[in-house]
Amino acid sequence: MTQQRGRFITLEGVDGAGKSTHIAWLTDAVRAHGVSVVSTREPGGTPLGERLRALVLTEPMALETETLLMFAARSEHVRTVIQPALEAGEWVVCDRFTDATYAYQGGGRELGASRIATLEQWVHPSFQPDRTWLFDVPLEVARARLADAREPDRFEREGAAFFERTRAAYHARAAADPERFRIIDGTQSIAAIREQLEASLADMMAASA
Ligand code: TMP
Repeated sequence: MTQQRGRFITLEGVDGAGKSTHIAWLTDAVRAHGVSVVSTREPGGTPLGERLRALVLTEPMALETETLLMFAARSEHVRTVIQPALEAGEWVVCDRFTDATYAYQGGGRELGASRIATLEQWVHPSFQPDRTWLFDVPLEVARARLADAREPDRFEREGAAFFERTRAAYHARAAADPERFRIIDGTQSIAAIREQLEASLADMMAASA
């Protein structure tokens, strides 16, 4: 009998949208449906990727370098963690993926989509998440949350215009692929968000049964 491929779930959103609050819970929720699951993140997810993450979040660098490092980390991650897990029938929950590059580098930093599409085509042709939950909040909410958090990284230090461009680019991605995306209003209570995630997860489970 051939092994059924696992499902690839990603969580996206501007910094401060609240997705990190739900990663561990969501991973447990997937497991509670009786499937094995790998929880991972980008940039990062491999020993090399975590070293690239430390660089990209702290070192000043050209936009092109930043974009290439995101995809370098991703290449390693897709080949050594994500694809092998999916092929083994495991589900993968990933905190950010290529939509983040379209949003942050493409939108926030104004690189545009076409060079990112070229890199995407090279690093993971014909491979996309099965479901992407996009956590969405307005600037004031994100700012208030980040103010209480740890020392901000290179992206969290950016201004309001960067935030709005990034958010708009995420919305454009979601509008272009409504089958894959579900938008979560990140201003709701944690309980309301979890209810929405659980309902969407139950649909995915039913579809893949
Ligand atoms: P995190 O704080 O959600 O783990 O993400 C780290 C930061 O990296 C976040 O500010 C978004 C940024 N990022 C990009 O700019 N491009 C990317 O492709 C990815 C995956 C993350």
